[in-house]
Amino acid sequence: MKPTNTQVLFRREPRGFPTATDFEIVNTSLPELGPGQFLLRNLYLSLDPYMRMLMGGGWTFRGKPMSPGEVMVGRVIGEVIESNNADFRVGEHIVGRLGWQTYAISDGSDLDFKVIPKDAIPLTAYLGACGSTGVTAWAGLKMIGDPRAGETVLVSAAAGSVGSAVGQIAKAMGCRAIGIAGGQEKCRIVTDEFGFDACLDYKRGDLAAQIRAAAAAGVDVYFDNVGGEMLDTVLPQLNKQARVPVCGVLSQYNAAGEPYGVKNTRLIFDKSLRLQGFLLSDYRQQWDQARAELEELVAAGRLRYRETIAKGIENAPEAFIGMLHGHNIGKQLVQLA
Ligand SMILES: NC(=O)c1ccc[n+]([C@@H]2O[C@H](COP(=O)([O-])OP(=O)(O)OC[C@H]3O[C@@H](n4cnc5c(N)ncnc54)[C@H](OP(=O)(O)O)[C@@H]3O)[C@@H](O)[C@H]2O)c1
Repeated sequence: MKPTNTQVLFRREPRGFPTATDFEIVNTSLPELGPGQFLLRNLYLSLDPYMRMLMGGGWTFRGKPMSPGEVMVGRVIGEVIESNNADFRVGEHIVGRLGWQTYAISDGSDLDFKVIPKDAIPLTAYLGACGSTGVTAWAGLKMIGDPRAGETVLVSAAAGSVGSAVGQIAKAMGCRAIGIAGGQEKCRIVTDEFGFDACLDYKRGDLAAQIRAAAAAGVDVYFDNVGGEMLDTVLPQLNKQARVPVCGVLSQYNAAGEPYGVKNTRLIFDKSLRLQGFLLSDYRQQWDQARAELEELVAAGRLRYRETIAKGIENAPEAFIGMLHGHNIGKQLVQLA
């Protein structure tokens, strides 16, 4: 007998921060597998800020927002438990964007990669440091930030999944890494566990003075996860010809009304700055190379990561909302099985 599939559906566009009523949890029965298909038991779900943008707000990066009744978009790591496809055997682990659900049927065309198990790397790392967030950090930093040894790299949301990897990759490249995070405890983890040279608490106030004190010679790369007012504060602290990979705009995802208008744009000309937005999918050709390098760093203990793991699919909405409020440290996951 087929197991029951529990799914979280998108119900309606939130006003500001999402609430539990913007989601709906349903149980459905699984159909028989067709030719070439296989069944995955999903083990962990990755919760990521971009999902809020798919819930509405006029963002176009993915083409269109989710429609009410659609299974929430999200990456999972799952185990093949039944297969009509010789390329995907029972027992193998797969990462793909298969949605907020406990089971998924696939024909392999919608998957990111198959996990080749390695002793030193736990499965969950393939949704974080060795998965989409690690590869995002790698691509934005190396391809756009282009830091040279000795330069100073500043990164916002530094206690989070992408941010914590950015600083550690920068350190591995011989740079100075400075993080920005919310609160003393997060800043302690960023320096003591992730090995950044400094971490600035933006909730303490006067971020500009904190940056000047920590980066007396200025900032060469600002890896921007937040946008808005924080970007405005950082722009005057950048050196000439600094690079700004624009990875995300966390300050704007839940904002109601007019988006924040960045004021210091004249500095982009004045300092010959390079700001470039990017998507992980822009660098699909580099994914394998990036993952191999990240696996090496993790196995060598040079890329450390934290996970905040909620338990049970029914707790996914609450964990997602908590992550948007900054309750997570490192990668926010949900254990499904
Ligand atoms: N371009 C791409 O393809 C791509 C791919 C993956 C992720 N991203 C982006 O990368 C960024 C980080 O994602 P992640 O998955 O690693 O999430 P994360 O950093 O693990 O979690 C989100 C963190 O953002 C911080 N935050 C929330 N609202 C904020 C605000 N208004 N100002 C400053 N910080 C705020 C919170 O930490 P504090 O407590 O420190 O505030 C929260 O813990 C996001 O912008 C995301 O959209 C982009």
